[in-house]
Amino acid sequence: MKNNNHAVKTIDIKRTFKKSGKIIDALKGISLTVNRGEFFGVLGRNGAGKTTFLKILSTLLYATSGQAWVGGWDVQKDGQNIREIINLVSGGEESGYGILNVRENLWMFSQFYGIPSSIALKRIDNYLELFGLKDQAKTRVSALSTGMRQKMNLIRGLLNNPEILFLDEPTVGLDVESARSIRSYLKEWVKEGDRTIIITTHYMFEADELSERLAIIEGGEIIALGTPSELKGLSQTEHFYELTVNNFPESLNVNIEGVQLISKIPQNGNTVLKIKLKEDSLLSQLLTTLNQHGSKLELLRKKEPTLEDAFVNLVGKSIDISGA
Ligand SMILES: Nc1ncnc2c1ncn2[C@@H]1O[C@H](COP(=O)(O)OP(=O)(O)O)[C@@H](O)[C@H]1O
Ligand SMILES: [Mg+2]
Repeated sequence: MKNNNHAVKTIDIKRTFKKSGKIIDALKGISLTVNRGEFFGVLGRNGAGKTTFLKILSTLLYATSGQAWVGGWDVQKDGQNIREIINLVSGGEESGYGILNVRENLWMFSQFYGIPSSIALKRIDNYLELFGLKDQAKTRVSALSTGMRQKMNLIRGLLNNPEILFLDEPTVGLDVESARSIRSYLKEWVKEGDRTIIITTHYMFEADELSERLAIIEGGEIIALGTPSELKGLSQTEHFYELTVNNFPESLNVNIEGVQLISKIPQNGNTVLKIKLKEDSLLSQLLTTLNQHGSKLELLRKKEPTLEDAFVNLVGKSIDISGA
């Protein structure tokens, strides 16, 4: 039975795993609504619960408790209906048969999805062209580079023209160029019709660039939800400035309450100071002090908070970008 018209709705989804006698609470009660047509991001560190959440939504894994609907269908009862309208692509996945070539592989998946062969081949060739994989059409999957393989996986995910596309860290480990082309294609793709994308990532800039709204998840819980600018606003109680000064005395201790020197970096004979202020009004006091010590201000810039600032504020730690 259809329940609602959201792309995704979950109520208090929990998932525990048992591992060598220990109980792991991977998800501790996720309640979330994603609207149709949204490009929604799930940002979190390694182990936060992102993959578990997407697996539950794409019916690969049962929730321990709670309810979830995808495209209005219940994940527990209507798995088949859901699988017809979604697709899931995971970064670094090893799907496909190494002995088949790229075009054969994609064709094979199109047949799993029940797409008539002639339509499928047209779609496949279109996408191969679009993603710059045309020259690899006859290359064995086992001989592809990581970037090419990931692009092929993404094409697989687009083949059935899903209403809702789940992407689990789709650009992880990719070279800058491939990641960029994938992101820019996704931004276009989601605009057509009523398509929805839910993407997980541990890259701040990616969440910032792609998501209309995002949830930050940590330890299996949503700890913040909003547009990227709303989330950045959470750290706007502090004010960041970058000052380029001439003649900054090495030994100078900026000792003003509410003023914190984050870093000082020499640059072309000047010094670039990164400063955190409790209030904007402390700036004049700081400039006076610098002046008194013979430093001359060359350049002053107010820095907007980044999603990273917001994340560190909320989680208390920065994201581990070394892990996948
Ligand atoms: N099959 C599993 N068995 C045991 N523990 C698991 C399993 N899958 C995930 N976990 C644990 O659940 C937590 C969340 O994992 P995951 O959803 O993969 O996080 P993320 O995708 O954000 O890195 C982690 O502590 C992980 O070790
Ligand atoms: Mg994961």
